[in-house]
This record gives sequence, structure tokens and C-alpha cells, in this order.
Amino acid sequence: MPPGAAKAVPRDVAQALEARATRRGRIGARLIYLETTSSTNDVADSLAFDGAAHGTTVVAEAQQSGRGRMGRTWFSPPGAGLYVSVVLRPEELGDRATSASLASRVSLTAGVAVAEAIRAATGLAVAIKWPNDLVVDRRKLCGILAEASSSAEAVRHVILGYGINLQPAAYPPDLVNRATSLEGELGRPVDRAAVLAESLACLADWLSDGTQASFARMLERWRALSPSSRGAEVEVVQPGGTRTTGRTAGIDTDGALLVSVGDAVERVIAGEVRWL
Ligand code: BTN
Repeated sequence: MPPGAAKAVPRDVAQALEARATRRGRIGARLIYLETTSSTNDVADSLAFDGAAHGTTVVAEAQQSGRGRMGRTWFSPPGAGLYVSVVLRPEELGDRATSASLASRVSLTAGVAVAEAIRAATGLAVAIKWPNDLVVDRRKLCGILAEASSSAEAVRHVILGYGINLQPAAYPPDLVNRATSLEGELGRPVDRAAVLAESLACLADWLSDGTQASFARMLERWRALSPSSRGAEVEVVQPGGTRTTGRTAGIDTDGALLVSVGDAVERVIAGEVRWL
């Protein structure tokens, strides 16, 4: 099979999706399953440009050019992770779509949804590290990358990509002490089909109500899942390279991280948090 060619959805995945069909609604109703591809976000983006419906989902067993936040690579060896991208249409996202920061709102929501899915499917108590890394004991288990495609007037679509480490892998040296996996944490095999299907069901749950009130509820849940967003000594590196050292002081109503620096509180809307 040439790289990028779709293959049949494996039976365990099809069964797990079917078991959650009502909760998932349109999320994953069309699922393209690939043995390998460059980046599932790129495949989903191209499908979205060709008119793919809200909820169309691309899953790959490996990626050759997996993409992370802030221009980084997402290490995506065969079978060691779940690599998933979902096409989201702004008109299906309610009030979130009126926000200038649609992609960041979607990615915060996805952090809550995927954390709850992992907890439900495996029992592992993952936490959120701002903005949306899922971590266990400060080691990263899952990364989320929401990318918006916009015309001059509006957002056309958002591609929500997430990678969940399933098995310990030969991580590159810069990751070896900072990454972890579901099976590494639990010490037993994990039902990857259940993790995938539950993540799509939880996404559908959290995205279905697009009101501001629902976004506020999601932020409350986010805060509960992210103990390190309050009272942790951190350095924040913002996209332009600005570094802020201080103590986390929660997130505001837009999901921006607040950092106490001396007597001031700085508001960070994008960047990388490093624990000190
Ligand atoms: C991060 O840097 O934390 C975000 C990582 C996002 C990785 C996922 S894997 C599936 C999707 N396809 C990509 O190329 N990236 C995202």
C-alpha cells in the first residue's frame, strides 16, 4: 500500500466507534484510517478544503512529519501513539466561532475532552499543563495542535490534531526524560480503540454546546484538571522569545495564563511553560 493510502478501519476501532455512536454524533462519523502519512493535520486540512463535513476524522498509525506546537516536530513512530485530526466547521461551534481566538478556545476544550477520555478509558489520572498538554507527573503524554484556516473575512475551518503516546518508544534524547506513555504509566496493555473512540465521544460532548456558558463550564473543569496552573514556579517562553519567570495564578475567562511577577500579574496568551 503506498504511503498515505487509506486502509479499512480495524475491527476493534469500528466496534469501539459504534459503541459510542450516539455520543459521538458527527465527530468521527466519517473516519479515514491511514497506515502512514506526513501529518494527519495536513490530510484533514486538504479534506476540509475539498468540503469535508464537520467531524471528519483522520487517524494514522505513523506520521513522517508529525507537527507540534511552536514549530516543533511530533515524534510519531508506527504503533507507539494515536495520531488523530478532526475537521471542525466554525458554524457548528456556536459562540466560540465569534471569538478571534477560535483555535485556542478549541484547543483548551480539547485538553479537557481528551483528559476525560483517557481517564474514562484507562483510569489514568492525567493532568493538564497550560495551555493543553496532558501530563502525568510532569511528563508529557499527549499534545494538542489546533490550526485554523481563514479567508479574509472568517475562519473556514479548524483542524484539531492530537497525539497520545500509547507505548514507550525510542524517544529522541531531548524527549526521553520529558515524555511518557499510557502503557508505560499503567504497566499493562491499553485498549487503543477505546481510547480513540472515547476521545471522539468526549470531544463531541464538550463541543456540542457552543454557548458562552458552556465555555465557562469547560474552563472550570480545565482549572480542576490543572493544579499546576496555580502556584507553580515557572518560566514562560512566548512565541517571540520573551521569557517571563514567576508563579502561575490561574487562567482568565479567555483561557489566558496569569503569571505573578513580583507585584504585577502578566497575562500570557501563547507560549510554552517550563516548570522551575
Ligand atoms: C504539541 O506540540 O504538543 C502538539 C502535538 C500535536 C501532535 C498531533 S499528532 C496528530 C496531529 N498531526 C500532526 O502533525 N500533529 C498533530
